[in-house]
Amino acid sequence: GNTPLIDRFGRRIEYLRLSVTDRCDMKCTYCLPKSFKGYQEPKDWLTFDEIERVVGAFAKLGTSRVRLTGGEPLLRRNLPDLAARLSALPGITDLSLSTNGSRLPEFATALRAAGVRRLNVSLDSLDRECVTQITGRDSIDDVMAGLDAAQEAGFSPIKLNMVVMPGVNAHEVEAMAKFCMDRGFILRLIETMPMGSTGLGSGYTPLGPILDQLRDKFDLIPEINKEMGGGPARYWRTQDGRGQIGLITPISQHFCETCNRVRLSVSGTLYMCLGQEEKVELRPLLRDGCSDEDLVQILRQGIELKPEKHEFREAPTKIIRFMSQTGG
Ligand code: GTP
Ligand code: 5AD
Repeated sequence: GNTPLIDRFGRRIEYLRLSVTDRCDMKCTYCLPKSFKGYQEPKDWLTFDEIERVVGAFAKLGTSRVRLTGGEPLLRRNLPDLAARLSALPGITDLSLSTNGSRLPEFATALRAAGVRRLNVSLDSLDRECVTQITGRDSIDDVMAGLDAAQEAGFSPIKLNMVVMPGVNAHEVEAMAKFCMDRGFILRLIETMPMGSTGLGSGYTPLGPILDQLRDKFDLIPEINKEMGGGPARYWRTQDGRGQIGLITPISQHFCETCNRVRLSVSGTLYMCLGQEEKVELRPLLRDGCSDEDLVQILRQGIELKPEKHEFREAPTKIIRFMSQTGG
């Protein structure tokens, strides 16, 4: 019954220490084994071999662009090694990364050496308090240091992603545009998609009126001559070309007719649309020793499921999955 725990030496055991994680952000010599190379990754995460295999299959079917996302992709151990493997695959000509920027001081040089060609960095505000509120920690100095490091490593141009939120940072759009022009970044304004509550006011800021304001202020003209990336942004520039601004308007003016992408999650789910549920699970197949033909077959079947368009507008409160699962 309820007799207490007493060991062979008469000691009563009445105290339990409960470790709720084995991770630490320090690596003290007296705590971790000398051989420590980083933490075990969850078994359901695709390995670099598995990822390379899937990307290789996509490349054979004509995919030339790969963007590394997360969560925060620079938290994946040895990410530059994966980047090097992917950029070396025949057919992959455009490897890019979307990051919160805070780890770029550590990784920018290695990423560039690994063949990452283009960098998009999230920064929603220039105000320390506002950034802290949005990101959950006082991160602005780390991101600024990351931007410096990225420029020093030779990344150019760097795009700065600003999710425009009513009552939070929408009033900073002009200041952000100036900052980007001074620093040589391309500013990208993004309408907030309803992918999980930000807790920071609701709804989204339609970018139409903001574009009008910026056109007045900076005398913008459409950027039509340059290849600016592979994504849904529509670009504008100043007359002298010193400033470039991209607008991403999934809500007010969707771009689904020209959608060219699918998304693979860390655990091997292939999502056909950011704003819809259609998906195919690749991990079971990969771990079942599928043939290359099987893999190609399931990719083709998946693409057959790709819906016509996302539906944020029609069902603004229906959350399909959090953005952190696919990194946008
Ligand atoms: P490039 O144009 O190649 O530089 O990249 P990108 O703009 O496609 O990538 P990034 O990761 O910087 O994403 C910027 C914003 O665009 C994020 O808010 C993404 O969620 C959004 N976005 C990218 N692709 C899609 C898409 O297919 N559908 C929707 N609705 N939003 C997208
Ligand atoms: N709506 C729009 N953009 C988002 N991002 C993250 N969450 C959302 C959202 N709910 C953007 C970030 C990041 C990019 C990859 O996705 O700005 O830079």
